[in-house]
Amino acid sequence: MAAASKSAGNDAVRVIFLGPPGAGKGTQAVRLAAYLGVPKISTGEMLRTAIAKDTPLGREAGPLIDKGNLVPDPLLVALIAERTAESDCKSGFVLDGFPRTLPQAAGLEQMPGGDPRGFLVFDFEVPRDELMRRLSGRRWCPKCQATYHIANQPPRRPGICDVCSSMLVQRDDDMEAVVERRLAEYDRRTLPLIEYYGARTRLIRIDGYRSPDVVFQDLLSAVEVSA
Ligand code: AP5
Repeated sequence: MAAASKSAGNDAVRVIFLGPPGAGKGTQAVRLAAYLGVPKISTGEMLRTAIAKDTPLGREAGPLIDKGNLVPDPLLVALIAERTAESDCKSGFVLDGFPRTLPQAAGLEQMPGGDPRGFLVFDFEVPRDELMRRLSGRRWCPKCQATYHIANQPPRRPGICDVCSSMLVQRDDDMEAVVERRLAEYDRRTLPLIEYYGARTRLIRIDGYRSPDVVFQDLLSAVEVSA
């Protein structure tokens, strides 16, 4: 429990999850944030909430997300600067889906506590055909944003969210053509972050092509070693 107690002290536990769409970042971010007692900050979730509420950010992000394109860097940097300044982030946080480009990483570095050496950076590796299988089978709750998979992680009642009993749906951006675009964006704009963080801090590669429980054990081991 060294890492959990660390989160309560002066040393904040700041975590970045890198990895392609469908690698399991969201699934593991929920678990790790709960274990560490820090907030999970998912930019994808924040953007989908903004879309649902029809805010100016949501109106700008919606058409881009639907096409599988990234949302402009300045919007994401401002979103994260504001969120990480909130009091619940004092002990740390798990960033799921940010940074996703070099300008976003540079923006994070400018924020208080943004020195990359203060972050644990995990890079999830999963083969492409498995990513497609996971995304095509993913089901999602539009109300509470819980995530399932029809084969790997089914809800207790088919099509119904375990958490809030809403109807599960397929995310529009999980359609095959959009997924291909998202993967291309990942290759072009997010992959360079592996070299960026590899040169600045300890980058921990995670074999994400195993069961969620086994992957989580790997994350915990790395967190404990760093505590
Ligand atoms: P976002 O929601 O962040 O999408 P993503 O990064 O593409 O990641 P995913 O949510 O698709 O996958 P994941 O790795 O979290 O996998 P999950 O755990 O769900 O972003 C959506 C869009 O918003 C972007 O395309 C972009 O337009 C915009 N955006 C967001 N952040 C941005 C930023 N910083 N800058 C610019 N634009 C931004 O798992 C996937 C499935 O697999 C699930 O069904 C799950 O049950 C299953 N699964 C998980 N782990 C396992 C396992 N170990 N074994 C078997 N199945 C598993």
